[in-house]
Amino acid sequence: MRSLNVSPTRWVGLFALLCALLALITPAVSVKKENFKTCDQSGFCKRNRAYADTASTTSNFQSPYKLDSTSVKLEKGVLTATVLKSLSPSENVRLPLTVSFLESGVARVTMDEEKRQKGEIELRHGSKARKERYNEAEKWAIVGGTKVSTGAAVHEADDSATRVAYGPESKFEAVVTHSPFGLEFKRDGETQIKFNDRGFLNMEHWRPKVDKPKPAEGEENKEPAGEDESTWWEESFGGNTDSKPRGPESVALDISFPGYSHVFGAAEHTGPLSLKETRGGDGKYDDPYRLHNSDVFEYEMDSPMTLYGSIPFMQAQKKDSTVGVFWLSAAETWIDITKSSSSANPLSLGVGSQTTTTSHWISESGLLDVFVFLGPKPQDVIGAYGELTGYSQLPQQFAIAYHQCRWNYVTDEDVKDVDRKFDKHNIPYDVIWLDIEYTDEKKYFTWDPLTFPNPLDMQKQLDDHERKLVYIIDPHIKNTGNYPIIDEMKSKDLAVHNKDDSIYEGWCWPGSSHWVDAFNPKAKEWWKTLFKYASFKGTAKNSWLWNDMNEPSVFNGPETTMPKDNLHYGGWEHRDIHNVNGLTFVNATYDALLARDKEEERHNVRPFILTRSFYSGSQRMGAMWTGDNQAVWSHLEASIPMVLSMNIAGFPFAGADVGGFFGNPSSELLTRWYQVGTFYPFFRGHAHIDTRRREPYLLDDPYKKIITQALRLRYSLLPAWYTAFHEASTTGAPILRPNYYVHPGDEKGFAIDDQFYLGSTGLLAKPVTAEGATSTEVYFADDEKYYDYFDFWTYQGPGKHAVSAPLDTIPLFMQGGNIIPRRDRPRRSSGLMRYDPFTLVVAVGKDGDAQGTLYLDDGESFDFQQGAFIHRRFSFDGRAGSLASVDLADAGAASSKAAKEYLKSMENVRVERVVVVGAPASWEGKTEVDVSEEVGGKAKSEGVRKAALEWHAAEGGKAAWAVVRNPAVRIGAGWKLQF
Ligand code: GLC
Repeated sequence: MRSLNVSPTRWVGLFALLCALLALITPAVSVKKENFKTCDQSGFCKRNRAYADTASTTSNFQSPYKLDSTSVKLEKGVLTATVLKSLSPSENVRLPLTVSFLESGVARVTMDEEKRQKGEIELRHGSKARKERYNEAEKWAIVGGTKVSTGAAVHEADDSATRVAYGPESKFEAVVTHSPFGLEFKRDGETQIKFNDRGFLNMEHWRPKVDKPKPAEGEENKEPAGEDESTWWEESFGGNTDSKPRGPESVALDISFPGYSHVFGAAEHTGPLSLKETRGGDGKYDDPYRLHNSDVFEYEMDSPMTLYGSIPFMQAQKKDSTVGVFWLSAAETWIDITKSSSSANPLSLGVGSQTTTTSHWISESGLLDVFVFLGPKPQDVIGAYGELTGYSQLPQQFAIAYHQCRWNYVTDEDVKDVDRKFDKHNIPYDVIWLDIEYTDEKKYFTWDPLTFPNPLDMQKQLDDHERKLVYIIDPHIKNTGNYPIIDEMKSKDLAVHNKDDSIYEGWCWPGSSHWVDAFNPKAKEWWKTLFKYASFKGTAKNSWLWNDMNEPSVFNGPETTMPKDNLHYGGWEHRDIHNVNGLTFVNATYDALLARDKEEERHNVRPFILTRSFYSGSQRMGAMWTGDNQAVWSHLEASIPMVLSMNIAGFPFAGADVGGFFGNPSSELLTRWYQVGTFYPFFRGHAHIDTRRREPYLLDDPYKKIITQALRLRYSLLPAWYTAFHEASTTGAPILRPNYYVHPGDEKGFAIDDQFYLGSTGLLAKPVTAEGATSTEVYFADDEKYYDYFDFWTYQGPGKHAVSAPLDTIPLFMQGGNIIPRRDRPRRSSGLMRYDPFTLVVAVGKDGDAQGTLYLDDGESFDFQQGAFIHRRFSFDGRAGSLASVDLADAGAASSKAAKEYLKSMENVRVERVVVVGAPASWEGKTEVDVSEEVGGKAKSEGVRKAALEWHAAEGGKAAWAVVRNPAVRIGAGWKLQF
């Protein structure tokens, strides 16, 4: 064999080359799994899984929970009863139950434990914690929709069951079975959801710790038979011991969805939108989905591991039916998912077989508190959930444009330089961000005097182009001398406490720190004082907020967070409130920003806050992002289902770090990431401190050009995005919509999570997330026409289509039947587009018609609540050959001063172009359209004028299209174009 003769010096050279090549490749780093518990390492999860196994495998298993038939009452829409948990034939634990039937058609089931409720328990170790089960999650999560319906009525009751008719036209029914206790929810006579059907209901009641006698010398240490107590009284993990002063107190329940093969929700995780089974086997997870907000360093893909935020809301989907549950617990929660198939006839080979999905919810502490949604449409479920937890905030317009961030822009001159370079390269952006290094040694509410000597000057330069600054403030306050903020927080006793009630100290970015306790009303009042322009000098009106590390992240804490036996305001243990902690911090910042704003002349500007940790309800206050992802293709791909999952969970203002946080993306990856990011509701480029600079202007062509095109696409579609945000803020509807949401009858599309619709616009995107790809496949669920957004190539649904997608292409389609509003003039920032004219794109549907809406306001203030907005419906009628704009605002909405001023300011904003895609062939030869305008709802006296029409014939696979040039109709008024 011929050997390669390589001299030693050449070896050195080759080695150096290899090292250099390796340095170019971004390694996929991975999570330290050993730092986070598996179910097996979490006492209450393990106990409940074991309980479920016993219930499933024991042939004569009897759930020990029975409802006392004599206790049942239904008064004013609320059923009350006592559930008895039998410990022995003579001993029961009393568990007060309420089932509230809400006006919205939602049912709410809560169960408490009488002894803890009444405080008739003893805490161990002299703990100062509260004795009750945590009952304040609703205080943070729920803001509406809880009015009970007096229409709910018992229509049948005997010793074995109580049946209540409720909901719209009494179409819903709740059947409470008494022994064993269970609940069944029906719609139109058909069972949709079952509680405790599998017998996994388990409320660990309070009991005193009975110290076992020590074995006498020479005797074996035999564990007494019975329950495994090893994790009841104390639990250690990773060198930390949880003192558990209240003993075991978990609460668990199986919730089954008979006939439902898909479940979605339980965000935040990295797996697919349609949740996987979790009890092992082919393609299944081994562990339950975990909800325990955590700073998971280098998190992994396709995993049920916990992440930064939790939304314990789940939807189940079958053909033409969506139902759901919201498990209101702020404590650590695990959810097992299993599916079982049943077939009416064993010989039917799967035909007519039914899948039932069972979810097993396990929380460490707190009440059992579950909301039940019976649909039948996805929006019925998501809308009702939104009514309870609040719709997402209508953000300022800048917040939905592009954000440029990195850890860190190092000086105020650096910020100004980046700002100038975006302009020099004609790349639009709205916001530049400051990460933790702007502070004086990580002391929040200070500036580093050497690197940021002139912050106001910097913000002034940004403001010249209506740009904003976002700076970071985390919840840990540096424990150091000569820092008035920490002195004040300590002297006023506003920080989180240890289990012995002393001030809690841990480590985060600044080193030794204390944590502001945002559960404390006094802390919230104090927090407000810190953001005033006079207190935090150097901040200006165009500066907004980033709240990070609010899980909270504690570098030396158990599982990188706080000990569970820490104490918060009101004596609640950290264990009770952990998952809502991040929300309370953002809530404090939100109120502080509103208070800051009151000082301004032009008051009532909508706050902008980005949060990493969240819970149900956080959507009311700002945006979230998926934390510290990596610059690798798999993370780009996973970002789409992750963002979709947030969108169907009532928190649509979501995005992932564009480019990937850790590592250096290749130019191709970065380019593809911008194309995907163009469709994240929250669109921000961000990078770790150790990465190379990657502002879009630093790339060579073609990458720079392609990224600029992607950004321009986002900016031109801002009117469509803003309209989608408005819809989300009034109905809870997702901004990015997965296939099942838009086509709930299309079973084939239920699991699709790599393409999505944008709001109600009919725009369907299928961005490319694979390296080297030049084509992709898109799925159209309905028998509509789909037009390529850019060249009007026409596809006919339903079915899959291969589409070409070289690097400069984002596969984007217009579903026939929609009208899309845009603004096509390139600007430096969205603020500079305020008075720009509009383009309307009409994508003619198979029936020859199309519809669309536009919502518009000042993009800044709360004046829209006084009617200061424009809301139009555009209708294209193919047979009549007309396009008309009608008002969607309530009559009288525009009567306030603010509304009049706003409408006046928009008086001269017009439509400069109408593009009709799929234009009728009968238009050939036409060169004009008739334009008629209304003033104050009446046809304008000057009568009809003409505008030029250009018609282009269909060509190859491309649709015929037409353009109306400068119809010059007002965007805020009624008008009609007659073709
Ligand atoms: C956290 C954030 C990241 C930020 C960093 C420094 O890791 O997730 O976005 O850059 O902290 O503040």
